[in-house]
Amino acid sequence: MKKTVVTFAQAKKNHEKLTMLTAYDYSTAKLIDSAGIDAILVGDSLGNVMLGYEDTLSVTMEDMIHHGAAVARGAKEALVIVDMPFMSYQTSVYDAVVNAGRLMKEARAQAVKLEGGVEVCPQIKAITDAGIPVMAHIGLTPQSINAFGGFKVQGKSEAAAKKFFTDALAVQEAGAFSVTFECVPEKLATYVTNKLDIPTIGIGAGAGCDGQVLVYADMLGMFSDFTPKFVKRFGETGQVMTDAFKAYIEEVKNGTYPTATHTYAIDDDVIEKLY
Ligand code: KIV
Repeated sequence: MKKTVVTFAQAKKNHEKLTMLTAYDYSTAKLIDSAGIDAILVGDSLGNVMLGYEDTLSVTMEDMIHHGAAVARGAKEALVIVDMPFMSYQTSVYDAVVNAGRLMKEARAQAVKLEGGVEVCPQIKAITDAGIPVMAHIGLTPQSINAFGGFKVQGKSEAAAKKFFTDALAVQEAGAFSVTFECVPEKLATYVTNKLDIPTIGIGAGAGCDGQVLVYADMLGMFSDFTPKFVKRFGETGQVMTDAFKAYIEEVKNGTYPTATHTYAIDDDVIEKLY
């Protein structure tokens, strides 16, 4: 059965952990979906993982729609959430609603995610008022990397922890159905999780969140440009792929691939008539 935002609300009520992974293409989405994940996030991390940018700032609406639609076609049961890219919602409430609508209509997302706290609450309210579920994202918000001065743990000082708590309450009040906590101390994330009615999804925020999210290429060991402390490798797929690519190159070079089992037959007399 297709999972929805109601699945998220029920999981919080029943103290069941939620699972989320990113995906950016049809085949990976199908694999993750068939493993039984609750939600697939088409993160703007596709800028790093798929497109090779050093941050997420260059990702466009067209990128998110193209990859989001591919994931939506592969996800039969998982809730599909698509990130709103940099400058698709910060500019105005109007832009936010129009662009969230495009992700629903053209990518067939079931929800959108956007970064920020109090300052984006008018956008969260307007998008949810339009019938589009919003996941908020606070703590380390990669679209603000230049304002932060780098990828740093957030919420450590008293003022920063208070701001984090205020932001969490504000996005809930604005109508977000869930909120991602990125790179904040575990005790802070746990405290705020217990104060919220909506489920929190942590990445680098410890085990006290209501669920967890990871970038699939990180947890499979496929992306090595940088590896944050919170990433656990659940597989060495990068190595498996490299070994397979090398074996293919070797077999083509030495003539052991393809063999008769990989080729198509034709009657000899057809060939003879070519002479
Ligand atoms: O873009 C992304 O993949 C994300 C996750 C890291 C939460 O926002």
